[in-house]
Amino acid sequence: MIGRLSGDGGATDLMAVATHALDQAVDIVRDDDVQLALFILYASSYGSLAQLDADLEWDGELIGVRRRLESAFEHALRSAVPAPELPEATVDAVARALFALTDDVSGPSLSRFVAKKATAEQVRELLMQRSIYTLREADPHSWAIPRLHGRAKAALVEIQADEYGGGRPDRVHATIFAAAMRGAGLEDTYGAYVDDVPALTLASLNMMSMFGLNRRLVGAIVGHLAAFEMTSSIPNRFYAEGLRRLGFGEDVTDYFDEHVEADAVHEQIAARDLAGALAEDRPDLLPDIMFGAAACLTVDGWLAQEMLDAWADGRSSLRSR
Ligand SMILES: [Fe+2]
Ligand SMILES: [Fe+2]
Repeated sequence: MIGRLSGDGGATDLMAVATHALDQAVDIVRDDDVQLALFILYASSYGSLAQLDADLEWDGELIGVRRRLESAFEHALRSAVPAPELPEATVDAVARALFALTDDVSGPSLSRFVAKKATAEQVRELLMQRSIYTLREADPHSWAIPRLHGRAKAALVEIQADEYGGGRPDRVHATIFAAAMRGAGLEDTYGAYVDDVPALTLASLNMMSMFGLNRRLVGAIVGHLAAFEMTSSIPNRFYAEGLRRLGFGEDVTDYFDEHVEADAVHEQIAARDLAGALAEDRPDLLPDIMFGAAACLTVDGWLAQEMLDAWADGRSSLRSR
């Protein structure tokens, strides 16, 4: 796949390879081949990996392969993610349902563990895991901007303007996160840790990319962002607390401190003005808004659980190279 997207290795029948990978996959969400292939295909659209040839972004065969993998991935997510009950399609009812859904995140908390118990090595692992999305923070949701209208569009742009630094390049959240990586002694180049993270980490980003890049899934990307913003402020306070406990400097805590206040504001905009208003204006999208929110909580919940399980067993949450 990398060979093909870099402009060589054109003789392979990629559709046959993709179909074989799907046939062999026991769990598509955790399958290395499927998730790595999707990650690279999406990277071609983001332009996030330098070796990928821009001329191949819309290559017919590659887009065909992407659609084949996406349809299997979407089906797997829709089967695994518990479907929330649908509220009335009004701003108030949708916001209330989203707050209930995000408050109800039970199970052990990764951020509390980091606050009180994680070692410096475990915190570095967490940063490496997070780097797959956070070095491109906000980009998957930006695909939705031209696909929305009116108040939902205005709300999304208001959130994204903050994510992109509000006119200050040094305050772009992905840039602040890159500084945290360097401050913790890690590589800040995009993709440096792709071979270290499990497939599920790639799946978490691939899910956002799929929701963002498919116009028919615009409700899901909006629901995803709402749930993401609504479960960010308090955990980031705990992450910052853990980093300080371990003696990391302000260059590392800055990203997490920034999100304590920013996302306390974003969660209100995301729940009401973005998701709530979209549901009111486009009631046909309500099921996907709620699905996107539930998918965010489910997949990120699995990821947190797998990291905590690995650490409880005295293992690394990364794959061994
Ligand atoms: Fe952010
Ligand atoms: Fe945010």
